[in-house]
This record gives sequence, C-alpha cells and structure tokens, in this order.
Amino acid sequence: MTASPTALTTVLLDVDTGIDDALAIFTAALSNEIDLVGCTVVWGNVDVQQGARNTAAVLQLAGHGDVPIAIGAAGPRGGAEAVFSPQVHGADGLGGCADTAHVPVLSRGRSAGAAGSPESAVELMLRLSHEHAGVLEIVAVGPLTNLAAALDVDPTLPERIRQVTVMGGAALAQGNVSETAEANIWHDPEAAQVVFDAPWELTMVGLDVTMTSLITDEHRARLAAGGAVGRFSSEILDFYLDFYEQYTGERASGNHDALALAVATGLVKTTLSPIVDVTVDCSEGPTRGRTVTTLEGEWGQWPERDGARHRVVMEVEPGFEERMVDLLASAHPEV
Ligand code: BDR
Ligand code: CA
Repeated sequence: MTASPTALTTVLLDVDTGIDDALAIFTAALSNEIDLVGCTVVWGNVDVQQGARNTAAVLQLAGHGDVPIAIGAAGPRGGAEAVFSPQVHGADGLGGCADTAHVPVLSRGRSAGAAGSPESAVELMLRLSHEHAGVLEIVAVGPLTNLAAALDVDPTLPERIRQVTVMGGAALAQGNVSETAEANIWHDPEAAQVVFDAPWELTMVGLDVTMTSLITDEHRARLAAGGAVGRFSSEILDFYLDFYEQYTGERASGNHDALALAVATGLVKTTLSPIVDVTVDCSEGPTRGRTVTTLEGEWGQWPERDGARHRVVMEVEPGFEERMVDLLASAHPEV
C-alpha cells in the first residue's frame, strides 16, 4: 500500500485495543510491507483482558489469528487505579461490536514461551527483541506501562530495538484528555517518562499530526461497501465518529494509532519531524501528562539541538488514509 517501495519491516505492536488500535492492527496484519510478529496488550481504552480479546478478534478477522498475543499491565506503573475510556471506544472497546466479531475467550494471553506456558507481555517483548535483534520496531499505541516494565526487567532492551514509535503526546497541539495532555501519556506519565528516557531511538507521533490525519464519514462509507474487514471497521468507526462529532463538531476522527504504525514502517513519509528533547510532566497538577517539548524558534524552523534524541512528527505527506481505507476495504482474508 506504499506510495513507494519499502523493505519489509518487523513490527511488535503494543496495543490497548479500542477502535483506532483495531485499524492499526488490521493495517499491520494486511500490509505486504509489514511482518507483524506479535501484539502485547496493555490496559488503557479498556481493561487489559478485554483489550486482549479484542486484539485476538481483530487479528482473526484479518486472517492472522496466528500472531502471538500476550497480556500485560492492568493499570498504571505507580499502582493508581486504572481509568478507561468507554465514552470514546464503547464499554467493550469496539463501539459495542466486540460480540459481532465473535471475540474469543482469552484468559491469560496465548503466546507460549519455550516452556509452553503463556508468556506475559514483557516476556514476549523480550523474546522477540532477541529473535529479531537489530531489526525489531516497537510501535506503542497505548499507555506506556508495558514498555517501562520491560525496561525494568531488562535495561539492555534498547540495544536490540531498531526504533520505538509512540502514538502519544502533543507538542504544540491541544490535549485530548485535558487542556495539555494526550490520553496515552496522561494514563501513565511515570511510565512514559521511563520510556522517553531510555537510550533508544524514539519517534513521537502525537496529536499535532494525528489530528490532521483524519478518517471521515466518507471513508467509513467506503469501508462499509468492502469485505468483512471493511464492514467491521465501518461498524466500529460509527461509534468513534459519533464521539468525535460531539467533541469537534465534525464526523471525522484522528487516525492516531495507524498513523504511528505508518510512520514507523514507511507507509507514510514525514515532511516535518525535528529531533528535540521531550520530557513528561509527572506533577499532580493540571498539566499532568503533558509532553514538554523543546520546540524553539519559529514554526517549522526548529534548530538542531546537540544531544537531542526524540523525533517529534509534526507533519506527514497526505494520502495515507486513502491507502489504508483501500487496503481494509479490499481485504478478503480466509478466516
Ligand atoms: C490515543 O488514545 C486512545 O484512546 C487511542 O487508542 C489512541 O491510542 C489517542 O489519544
Ligand atoms: Ca490506542
């Protein structure tokens, strides 16, 4: 589905499978350019068990029921109570459609380690980092609790990862859970800080760019006219677009998680992505969860900063949503 050819990219998706996560999983599973080697599930949009069931259902619908799934953190790093987002994604995370996807029962994840017992998200992440050392791209599209936990267990993890791409944060854009904070970072700022501090290449795909990469009602209608994946995507998007309509006045949603995947894998090219420093506001005040970004200078003219490590995507070339919708609408997987 690329505009220009890219090499096959090996991807581990860390998901909290709600509606836009589902679109990212479909895209990863169905793109010829991507080798999806695992999904680790984290709490966030829904509780982690429901997120895992949703992930399994989506992979199965895409004809990729063999992709390993492992269950991770059930709540924030510091032990605070988990707060979910039923108003955005529905109580089941899939806009009330989880049942129609015949969500399988998944109690402990189904990825089996060498000993045959179910692996945790951290175990799967570490195993895949060894099996695909140097080429594995981690694309994290939920709260960063699982990644921070993996770094606790094995601080050498970054040596084996090609890049981490995070859907989260807002550099100059307004937040979506508070004036300044984006949901994935706000859910677990302490975990996010650990992940931003770790010595790996990290790309942040935040609201600055995901809210310019829109899925519209016209896209939804095209999906509805497609195959099983397209029809299911259209049904879950109906709920998501209703939410966005209340929030922005338009039936158009940010294509958050799939855009992060697309940036990581070259399915879309970035046109403005300065390398700067990002820190996370972990205070208990009104700016908790804000990504504080050293974007100095005039808009679009950020100077290179010595020692800066975080690539913050501000603009991408247009057209990815069209290609994504075509891919999902035309999918006819053998289930
Ligand atoms: C992010 O928050 C979640 O609700 C979405 O799945 C996405 O990952 C957008 O702020
Ligand atoms: Ca998500």
